[in-house]
Amino acid sequence: GPLEETAIPLFFGWFLCPSFQEKLKSMAKDFLKTLAGLEAFKKHLSDFTGEAEKEVDLEKFFQDKGMLHCTTKFCDYGKAEGSKEYAEQQSVKDRYGNMSELTLSALFLTPRTLGARVSLSEEQLQLWPTGAEKEAVPDANLPIGSRAHVTLGCAEGVEPVQTGLDLLELVQLQQQGQEGEQVEDLELGSLTYYGKGMWVLSLKEPTVAPACFSSYYG
Ligand code: A2P
Repeated sequence: GPLEETAIPLFFGWFLCPSFQEKLKSMAKDFLKTLAGLEAFKKHLSDFTGEAEKEVDLEKFFQDKGMLHCTTKFCDYGKAEGSKEYAEQQSVKDRYGNMSELTLSALFLTPRTLGARVSLSEEQLQLWPTGAEKEAVPDANLPIGSRAHVTLGCAEGVEPVQTGLDLLELVQLQQQGQEGEQVEDLELGSLTYYGKGMWVLSLKEPTVAPACFSSYYG
């Protein structure tokens, strides 16, 4: 009967420790504040507003999406392709509930999303679902794990799934050799503009985020 079956969650992922969540949120807040004050950003403000002269409060522009985490497999309670296989994978069972250190290598924003890029270790990649990148961008050969991120906020009406898609668009541009426009060296790292409102802050010192591998049922 249904009570003997294992329930498949909405998604699996690494959940950032509460104290670190606060730290990352304030880091992102500081970044947005700095960005908003830069002439280079003001020059491209219409990417966000659609109008040249309009002001934008970035902190209000990106709405908080709750508990900070890095999704590995979105299962949709078993409706998503491959979710049962993922839930039954030995590495997933073995690591469930274990702590891990995620390396955050960049902060990025687009007119849709604000996120942190996660560079997964070999060990962490064992929990990365096959096809996560191909499923999003079928025509490209993007490195496995390059979609890994933490959603920090979304513009009004934008779903969090968009953050990973925005990141893959940036990764694709980088892969195609687009260097972007190196704008400024900030305290946290170097800031690059990739056009169409896409900004990347590569962290000088990658930030280590303690996180727990688990799942979310909702
Ligand atoms: P993300 O990992 O970028 O934050 P929702 O609240 O929309 O149901 O999503 C729950 C979580 O699963 C979010 O963290 C979200 O994005 C992620 N997610 C939603 N849909 C997908 C999808 N199709 N592929 C991968 N991740 C998804």
